[in-house]
Amino acid sequence: MDLLRKKSVDQMIHEATPLKRTMKTFDLTMLGIGAIIGTGIFVLTGKGALTAGPALSVSFILAAVCCGFAGLCYAEFASMAPVSGSAYSYAYMAFGELIAFVIGWDLILEYALQAATVSAGWSGYFNKLLEGFGLHLPVALTAAYGTTPGVTTYFNLPGFVVVLLITWILSMGINQTKRTNDIMVLIKLAIIVLFIACTVWYVNPANWKPFSPYGIYTFRPGSTQPMGIVPAASIVFFSFIGFDAVSSSAEETINPSRTLPRGILLSLAISTVLYVIMTFIMTGIVRYPKFAHFVDAPVAGVILATGMNWLAFIVNLGALIGMSTVMLVQLYGQSRICYAMSRDGLFPRFFGDVHPRYRTPFKGTWFFGLLTAIAGGFININILFELVNIGTLSAFIIVSAGILWMRRTQPQTHRGFRAPGVPFTPLVAIVFCLVLIAGLNWETWLRFAVWFLIGLGVYFGYSRRRSKLNATDGTAESL
Ligand code: ALA
Repeated sequence: MDLLRKKSVDQMIHEATPLKRTMKTFDLTMLGIGAIIGTGIFVLTGKGALTAGPALSVSFILAAVCCGFAGLCYAEFASMAPVSGSAYSYAYMAFGELIAFVIGWDLILEYALQAATVSAGWSGYFNKLLEGFGLHLPVALTAAYGTTPGVTTYFNLPGFVVVLLITWILSMGINQTKRTNDIMVLIKLAIIVLFIACTVWYVNPANWKPFSPYGIYTFRPGSTQPMGIVPAASIVFFSFIGFDAVSSSAEETINPSRTLPRGILLSLAISTVLYVIMTFIMTGIVRYPKFAHFVDAPVAGVILATGMNWLAFIVNLGALIGMSTVMLVQLYGQSRICYAMSRDGLFPRFFGDVHPRYRTPFKGTWFFGLLTAIAGGFININILFELVNIGTLSAFIIVSAGILWMRRTQPQTHRGFRAPGVPFTPLVAIVFCLVLIAGLNWETWLRFAVWFLIGLGVYFGYSRRRSKLNATDGTAESL
């Protein structure tokens, strides 16, 4: 049994695609920023500030460097084989089917959990906005059971509805998705710039001292949560997740070998600049231990500390829009990975069926959209963002290692973009990813291992026998 059977770059590219090509560099950059700026900056900066102090900005830079190096590797792969499926497809070319399946399996979980987690944060901000208008949902329907200590809630109705709405937009086609996303991302960026321009005047440099109260890494006996710059980087790494989803759109992009690398790197650069400025301002206005009082809405907390309540309303709206685009792009990326896996026979055909009119993987989009909506409605998943981080970091490691391997084994293959500094670039990406994984807590490593083992079960129990590659190596089994 050949566990490492591969697909060649040519095979990947020549597999006909019925998806429509309409995306350009601007749309891809918007898609990237849409996926990147969301819960990380609006919610996780609170936990980040408590973990690293004012050095949180350094944690953001650390996470950005990791993503930048990995982003260069994604960009090279995307320019070599502009196909749906992102890390899954790249691993198929470089390392073969087993590793590809494991990464695809990993990404499906990441995207679904991410969207469900974000829907929980979305719901919190939505309820706040309603309160501003004197409206209230029944408390039981404002969040999943057990989400808010001391309050009995059962179902996250706003989160459930918004995920269904986004699924509907996605299932209707990429043009609608693109337009909706572009508008929402521009509004989100405008509101962040407004936040920076209005609050920068309230910074008190005394709040930046001590700058790094916990140093680079401090382990506290009896606690599963380490402190310092590296552990905070492991948390806020979540804020950068999303640029990889850009490469999922390769089959819907015009001139992908040029536009994909540009879209990935531009969206990463713009987000990093905004994050670093924002976190410097936030820790300059509010002393870091005080973030404990508004750990769920740190940006709103900082605004209230300045007394500009009118700004809080606008920024809350920005947070809602920001999180909506994150969910949009994550659900989009997920449906495209399922589509690619189904096309390869590793997932049932149902997930790859393209709608004759909308030209989207309609059924797969609705299947996972519904599952995500239900998960976000019922499950208290706030702690699971670390699982998202470890899964994404693992995908980055595979993609970076894939570039090292492809440069050695297929140096002649055409690349519209070549990552500079190879082998240094992928090696640095791998080291940074390992450092960030080390900064997560051990319960996360364990949960990830369990999901990985379930994936192996699915592969050997189903996907291995159904793979389309069986037809070429003579072990075909009828579908
Ligand atoms: N980067 C995305 C966010 O921060 C996942 O919400």
